Amino acid sequence: MSEPRPIRIFDTTLRDGEQSPGCSMNLAEKLEMAGALVDLGVDVIEAGFPIASPGDFEAVREIASNVRGATICGLARCADADIDRAWEALKHSPAPRIHVFLATSAIHREFKLKMTRDEIIARAVAGVGRAASYCDDIEFSPEDAARTELDFLCEVVEKVIAAGATTVNIPDTVGYATPEQMFRVIDTLRNRVPNIDRAVISVHCHDDLGMAVANSLAAVRAGAGQIECTINGIGERAGNCSLEEVVMAMRVRRDHYGCTDRIVSERLVPTSRLLTSITGMQVQRNKAIVGRNAFAHEAGIHQDGMLKERSTYEIMRPEDVGFAKTDLVLGKHSGRAALADRAKQLGYRLTGEQLQIVFEEFKRLADKKKSVYDGDIRALIDAQIRGSVPAIWTLVSFRVVAETNQPPQVRLTLRRGDHEVTEEAQDGDGPIDAAFLATERATGMTLPCREFQVRAATLGHDAQGEVSVVVEHQGRLVRGHGVSTDTVEATIMAILDSVNRIAEEDVAAKES
Ligand code: KIV
Ligand code: ZN
Repeated sequence: MSEPRPIRIFDTTLRDGEQSPGCSMNLAEKLEMAGALVDLGVDVIEAGFPIASPGDFEAVREIASNVRGATICGLARCADADIDRAWEALKHSPAPRIHVFLATSAIHREFKLKMTRDEIIARAVAGVGRAASYCDDIEFSPEDAARTELDFLCEVVEKVIAAGATTVNIPDTVGYATPEQMFRVIDTLRNRVPNIDRAVISVHCHDDLGMAVANSLAAVRAGAGQIECTINGIGERAGNCSLEEVVMAMRVRRDHYGCTDRIVSERLVPTSRLLTSITGMQVQRNKAIVGRNAFAHEAGIHQDGMLKERSTYEIMRPEDVGFAKTDLVLGKHSGRAALADRAKQLGYRLTGEQLQIVFEEFKRLADKKKSVYDGDIRALIDAQIRGSVPAIWTLVSFRVVAETNQPPQVRLTLRRGDHEVTEEAQDGDGPIDAAFLATERATGMTLPCREFQVRAATLGHDAQGEVSVVVEHQGRLVRGHGVSTDTVEATIMAILDSVNRIAEEDVAAKES
């Protein structure tokens, strides 16, 4: 058998993924995610679109300056200002890549850009040339390539490679392609573009028809050497090709694809969970590879088969993708070492200081709840350590009264600095509505709720409730997360988390 062909994994969770509604991350979260992507073994991290906003610029600059172990990429349109800004953000990375893009399809040329084919080629070549004056690693994407005339696509690809592109990425921007078409496009480029061996062919598929993974794999079969994807498949609209799915498909079916990659598959579930805890965007239970039910066998016949021989119904082992082997139970007599070990098994890397915070919370929880399961530990760590923002507002105390046929009452005392404020609401349509109203009165912010989710961290009615809220603030969606064995308390904490995110931005805006 011939040697497996290496495929580069280009992760765009922090750019295309972060662009999707409800997935925005602050700087600390992006840095944490970038570190996790390095641990996962991705080859390229697309850290953002530097010209898009000062926040994007800062995130790319910080990641480029601090994250080692992967190529750091920044996106730019084919415009001098974009490319210069991208380089400004990337220049401190030892392995920078500038990714320039320009739409090539007839629809985009005619209606969006109002440019002729010749003008498109000239602009693309100029953009690549300018980027190549800054660094050697240049990627070019003909946006909407999957709907671009093949002859024209071949011409564009040839010209940008001649101008210095070292990777040519073929995006299916609107998720319109089929696997057979994707195969044909890549195969045609390989056969018709004379200088194609001077660049790596990449593929970037969106999931509007649910075919992003299949389309990416078809491109690999045709000879693509890089796949662009995101953790949990997040991204514009229906999302991007899911990293965990495409990687495990290539791994489990190496006999078919004949490819290899650098991904540490045991980090897939921890990385997926990190993203979920940062963004609050849950993956569906039956999601392939990382969903809660991905390895759950319910049918009696399946369970029987599994007990006799795992391979009857299992094509990969849960531990291969990072699911912990057992749901070990801890309790109030468990010590710090047991907690540290369990956290490690669950994929967390805690510093001594973080472990101390989590241990104190764990002891508090174990006093309330006899058995502490993996789900509880995850919820604790996520709430204490992950995605946390400075606690500008804190909860001092609350009182809730909910009674049949009576208006709910919520009274809250919050603290900001040395100042305490107590407010009450008796006019909501339930205790959650009243909690929002009381928080609005105490903080002076309007917090229209756009999403509200409660889930149990584990089984059993003593489970901790995990609450996620999304509120609207100045046209933007801001999320918040809270965990407690008391769901009303978890709700108030989630609302306060979103309040603190808004307050943090207001403080930063005043300082700048
Ligand atoms: O979907 C797309 O076309 C993109 C490009 C910028 C690569 O995200
Ligand atoms: Zn995209």
